[in-house]
Amino acid sequence: MHIHVFSSEAELAEAAAGRIVDRVRQDAGAVVGLATGSSPVAVYAAWGRQARAAGLDQSGVRGFALDEYLGLEPEDPRSYHAVIRRDAVAGAGLDADLVRIPDGSGAPGAAEAYEQAIRDAGGIDVQVLGIGRNGHLGFNEPGAAADSRTRVVELAEATIEDNARFFERADDVPTEAITQGLGTIFEARELLVIAVGAAKAAAVAAAIEGEETELVPASRLRNHANVHWFIDEAAASGLS
Ligand code: F6R
Repeated sequence: MHIHVFSSEAELAEAAAGRIVDRVRQDAGAVVGLATGSSPVAVYAAWGRQARAAGLDQSGVRGFALDEYLGLEPEDPRSYHAVIRRDAVAGAGLDADLVRIPDGSGAPGAAEAYEQAIRDAGGIDVQVLGIGRNGHLGFNEPGAAADSRTRVVELAEATIEDNARFFERADDVPTEAITQGLGTIFEARELLVIAVGAAKAAAVAAAIEGEETELVPASRLRNHANVHWFIDEAAASGLS
């Protein structure tokens, strides 16, 4: 486990983006796992800037989003289809046709098809992750099985509260989502976990130094052979 602590989000974003850009430099068809949320936005923008500055051809880079709400149309600006297009595809400069997002329509077989698509792509090379205040990864809430695969899940109350900021009312937040499982995430060859701000300090400390337990999904990450935490000083403030 590698823990990188930065005094500013800008430095953190440049360093995390640098790892992704290095991967694309080595493999023009790299497969990148894409989180939504606030944490990776600066990383995607830095990735795009670094790639442009280096004249890197990103036309073969493939992406897989972590998750999607159930029941929002892909055109809905609050859907993760829209967020990924805006933050990751536009930010990093990717070909939208090569970026796949889980189908949130509730169609049968969608989860299995997503797992198959990841396998067909040869697996994920670098997975970008954020962490929830409750230690969740993707929408794998506390209690999610360590070997879980892509599936439909219910959102925890804490997650609905946290994500209400993107909706008019907390009641508008979907209560279900489709998410890559912890087992799926764990198979990525490299994991980059981004955490910024004091609100994440307790979850970061629990994940890195607390008991390894399904009640803190991110605590499973410490067993991954190639996990990098990119955190700012506030998010690191709970570490001993
Ligand atoms: C992202 C996701 C979530 C977020 C986490 C942190 O696709 O599913 O696990 O990474 O909730 O969110 P932010 O970054 O908004 O604090």
